[in-house]
Amino acid sequence: MQRGPGSAVRAVAVAVLAAGALATAAAQTPPAPAAAAAQAADPAHGKAVSYTCLGCHGIDGYKNAYPMYSVPELRGQNPQYLVIALEGYRDGDRAHITMHSQTESLSAQDMTDVAAFLAGTPLKSSGKAAGTLPQAAQLCVSCHGQDGIAVAPIYPSLAGQHADYIVRALNEYKHGGRKNAVMKQFAGNLKDEDIAEIAAYFSQLTPSLATEPRPFTRLSE
Ligand code: HEC
Ligand code: HEC
Repeated sequence: MQRGPGSAVRAVAVAVLAAGALATAAAQTPPAPAAAAAQAADPAHGKAVSYTCLGCHGIDGYKNAYPMYSVPELRGQNPQYLVIALEGYRDGDRAHITMHSQTESLSAQDMTDVAAFLAGTPLKSSGKAAGTLPQAAQLCVSCHGQDGIAVAPIYPSLAGQHADYIVRALNEYKHGGRKNAVMKQFAGNLKDEDIAEIAAYFSQLTPSLATEPRPFTRLSE
């Protein structure tokens, strides 16, 4: 299995920062980045950080304008992947002006905490194939899972994600708005009709990603 070199490096960097935040880091530095990120997360602080985020990510069906597509669902996603995504927007590996300005001021700890809060309990794979996999998605499931639930915490789950967001993401990898080398290669080979079929397939799988309900009624503050 391949990993994007940038993602791996960033994941390690997060682990190092997260481990540094632990008083006992020297004695108990965890072996895997996943363990470090999970141990260091403070969902209560994450909830405080998420206040602005939920203005978009907490409203089911909320749309990005120009171009128009659904804001991604984060509930059930892998928190470690969410941190990698946030770093991507911050560092310009992913082009999105709003998400860039949202992430610029977040510390590594903020990212770990808000990712843990927004993800909640990550989806668990049933280990079973679901329905008839489109031909163009045969290779994808080695990382994104037979049932759309990622096989490792650094990969995103796709089960139940909005179809129009999946289309948007694949086009971003294909055309360079997102720079992840692994996904650029896989998306680059897809035709528009493959992308539409893949998005329709993954978006209807269950158990599925969901939207964290926004606990406030005001739309802006
Ligand atoms: C104004 C609306 C808006 C706000 C506020 C916002 N986001 Fe986003 N977010 C988006 C959109 C739109 C995308 C998809 C961008 C793209 O096309 O790559 C996104 C993408 C993401 C992703 C990537 C998800 C994935 O599946 O790869 C994460 C993680 C994320 N946002 C977390 C946050 C966090 C944390 C905050 C608050 C600090 C936040 N967002 C604030 C609209 C918003
Ligand atoms: C070797 C593992 C691997 C394979 C195979 C793979 N992906 Fe990915 N995929 C990733 C990684 C890693 C990311 C996150 C990249 C980043 O940081 O933006 C990703 C991101 C995505 C996203 C964006 C999800 C989001 O929430 O923003 C979509 C959609 C996606 N992949 C679809 C596919 C499809 C369709 C295929 C097959 C044609 C595929 N992937 C094959 C590893 C893989």
